[in-house]
Amino acid sequence: MCGIVGYIGKRNATPIIVEGIKRLEYRGYDSSGIAILDKNKQLKIFKKSGKITELERSLPSPDETYGNIGIAHTRWATHGEPTTVNAHPHTGCFGKIAVVHNGIIENHKILQKKLEAEGHKFISETDTEVLAHLIEHFLIKGNEFSLAVREALQLVEGTFGIAVINNEEPNKMIAARRGSPLILGIGKDEFFVTSDVAAIIIHTKRVIYLEDNEIVVINHKNFEITTLDNKYVEAKVSEVDWDVSSIDKGEYKHFMLKEIFEQPTSVGNAFRGRLMENLSTVRLGGLNMSGEELRSIKKIQIIACGTSWHAGLIGKYVIENTARIPVDVEYASEYRYRNPIISENTLVISISQSGETADTLAALREAKSKGARILGITNVVGSTIARETDGGVYIHAGTEIGVASTKAFTSQITILMMMGVLLGRVRNLPPTFGSSFIKELRLIPQKIQSILDKNDEIKKIAKTIKDSKNALYLGRGSNYPVALEGALKLKEISYIHAEGYPAAEMKHGPIALIDENMPVIAIAPDDAIYEKIISNLQEVKARNGRLIVIATEGDTSIKDICESVIYIPQTLHTLQPLLTVIPLQLLAYHVANLRGLDVDQPRNLAKSVTVE
Ligand code: G6P
Repeated sequence: MCGIVGYIGKRNATPIIVEGIKRLEYRGYDSSGIAILDKNKQLKIFKKSGKITELERSLPSPDETYGNIGIAHTRWATHGEPTTVNAHPHTGCFGKIAVVHNGIIENHKILQKKLEAEGHKFISETDTEVLAHLIEHFLIKGNEFSLAVREALQLVEGTFGIAVINNEEPNKMIAARRGSPLILGIGKDEFFVTSDVAAIIIHTKRVIYLEDNEIVVINHKNFEITTLDNKYVEAKVSEVDWDVSSIDKGEYKHFMLKEIFEQPTSVGNAFRGRLMENLSTVRLGGLNMSGEELRSIKKIQIIACGTSWHAGLIGKYVIENTARIPVDVEYASEYRYRNPIISENTLVISISQSGETADTLAALREAKSKGARILGITNVVGSTIARETDGGVYIHAGTEIGVASTKAFTSQITILMMMGVLLGRVRNLPPTFGSSFIKELRLIPQKIQSILDKNDEIKKIAKTIKDSKNALYLGRGSNYPVALEGALKLKEISYIHAEGYPAAEMKHGPIALIDENMPVIAIAPDDAIYEKIISNLQEVKARNGRLIVIATEGDTSIKDICESVIYIPQTLHTLQPLLTVIPLQLLAYHVANLRGLDVDQPRNLAKSVTVE
């Protein structure tokens, strides 16, 4: 979703901020723009709908865009179409200030009316433009720049991460946040502002994560953070612990493919140092909960969105089975508005790769306000969800750039499976289960690798379905959420309509769609319900449906009913989703790639959804 990058220092800001927003392309956007104060301290704004390359092409000579202070933005349209006029930065009537903004100004209509009554003229359909006019309004009244921004933000309802520059204060940049992430990067005699560290990591790893309702005033030499009501804030500098190479595609054509192939390592990183062979259990220190507290949990609610929600569903199957604790899995967007029931000893687990998803964040705040203990399962260290939870587990998957989540999903479910064992072992789960789980989990990375080695085979199967209009994914038990995830991957990046269904439920509706053109991708590993799912697949075959089956190595009879089979190695039932999802990720990737689509930045989607 929208991205912000700002620079103030001795270097030319333009290439730095343009390069910065390019690093944020993965988040999803539909227009972009920059504002700089040039050598003559004149404010210049350049913006363009479409890709950043369009913006670059439209820029005048480097000399004309030279300046030591600048802000840039990638916009993912919410209010108003993705046109050049609606792109950020926005300015007021006199073209003296420029504002970039992530988030939503909920009372923008009321504010706009008041400003228009004072003579302000609006040119865009965005909520952001109101911020520019509002700041201008307070400047015209004679307020000092930072005071004008502060006054304006006091009147705003909604969420914002903003950066503002002003040609009458050419050595100052102001940034503030409420509900949208904003980070200050500290270099040597230079500073950066961004909504995502990926944009500035090549320049500095020293950062300060602004908290909600904080404002930072930066000049070339130093900065000061205060709250919006002007209380001094002591800055906490953090060191970003990841490397530039993680935001490079390397030998791969797309980030998504790279990330799929990273899974033997990323899953290994999720469990490394957390398996305790001697006690046949796992250790998740970040939970900050004693054995007594873990034993006292009576109910779990998992809140998440998108792929993380699918991970949560797998968590439900595993935790209910191993720990015998009832688990509800809820869409965060629904949970936040439906007055959820939180009884004593309810544990709420929020799952979010980015740690910034607006609905997940709001849902966890709702649960917190009702007194629940909240845990987070996140990937991004220092993210808002990671900071607002009582405890949690980092999945350590490394930066995930592809909009369609892959490695974060397998790492999330690895953690949930380990949580299931931990919660089970403090109850009645026998040590034999714990030790075979640990033994098998250690083998998972190499088993994932053996599936990745079938990449060419999976690509051939992708060719056979690439022109389909629809696809149906079937699974049972914990492979039902895997079917949902497989279908989501396909629709996200290939734009083929796909649905996931519990295999037995198919006959209550989707079976009507099955004919010789309909690919049905079924997950049928060797487990207790194998025979049941085979019966469901016979129903597909009887209607001439095209069956592509994920089956366990050695299951030769499956070939009698399907068009293609992708074999996965044997593993414990609890761990199966870690293997069954891999061929589905590759299948979706190859279908989208064969269709010539932009796999890493699918249309309309955003990596981190920071609006409701
Ligand atoms: C967006 C992304 C999905 C992701 C979902 C939840 O829709 O495109 O890939 O699963 O947000 O994101 P989160 O960061 O909270 O896991």
